[in-house]
Amino acid sequence: MNAPPTRPEASPAVRLKIAIQKSGRLTDSSLDLLSRCGLKFSRGKDQLMCYGENMPLDVLFVRDDDIPDLVQEDVCDLGLVGLNVVEEKRLAFQARGIAPLFEIVQLLDFGRCKLCIAVPDGFEYRGAASLAGKRIATTYPNILARFLAERSIAAEVVVLSGSVEIAPRLGRADVICDLVSTGSTLAANHLRQVETVLESQAALIRTPVPIAADKQDWTRRLLMRIDGVEQVKGSKYIMLHAPRSALAAIAKLLPGSEAPTVIPLEGRGDRVAVHAVCRESVFWELLEDLKGAGATSVLVLPVEKMLA
Ligand code: PRP
Ligand code: ZN
Repeated sequence: MNAPPTRPEASPAVRLKIAIQKSGRLTDSSLDLLSRCGLKFSRGKDQLMCYGENMPLDVLFVRDDDIPDLVQEDVCDLGLVGLNVVEEKRLAFQARGIAPLFEIVQLLDFGRCKLCIAVPDGFEYRGAASLAGKRIATTYPNILARFLAERSIAAEVVVLSGSVEIAPRLGRADVICDLVSTGSTLAANHLRQVETVLESQAALIRTPVPIAADKQDWTRRLLMRIDGVEQVKGSKYIMLHAPRSALAAIAKLLPGSEAPTVIPLEGRGDRVAVHAVCRESVFWELLEDLKGAGATSVLVLPVEKMLA
């Protein structure tokens, strides 16, 4: 008989909480990141919170716009959210004279999109000055206001809570300022992108308030694992054989690698094996160059986990 899965012995107060987007651009990649960090949990349909089965870590599924507030209010210790939301909230708090209680731990390699100004197909756009006197619909009023202020443009910001892209057709605005990733929403609504207001990607945020002592160890471990997962994306392990005399030339070719490991090959004179982790993409051209420098038996392997 199988032993039942062990539950981490931690009272609710010492369990870490991380907020992620309930459904949208960041959800799948956020869940993937957490499971690559070793977290096991089962998620029922419409379940708003999941209990980590093998770590004292619970996952809250919320609207992305609420994630900085949950960290701000200390309901969650950590959050995975787009820079677009982080920046909008930071500016909103700043405008109200409140210091934001969330800080970016690191940028993550997913959720890339842009906050853009887009105009209806027939709109004659000749630079940002064309926005003067126009009504601009957005769910990002603070970022948009900063963009306009930096260019000394007076325009009316129409704050909506969603469905921004239909505002021009409904006569509620002349142009919009909204997120674009594939561009299909703009195209479907006969809008065309004319300015990039902010480049965004996912980020890990945390409270700058010291995390309770009994949560610190798991916070440190989780942050290290997230960093490890991010580092292995794109990293490769290269193994090859080469004459010792070619080592300098080969080391120079290995992209973004730390000091390679050099191992003598038993009974093969001056030939050695070279092993190195490369933190950049490895293309066929590199393998050809390595071969040209004297390497043989070149192997490229994916890296599954890394702990610096
Ligand atoms: C954004 C934006 C568009 C869509 C654009 O919404 O409001 O609806 O993404 O994406 P596309 O260029 O790939 O068509 P999002 O999914 O972020 O939802 P939210 O603003 O409600 O969080
Ligand atoms: Zn949102």
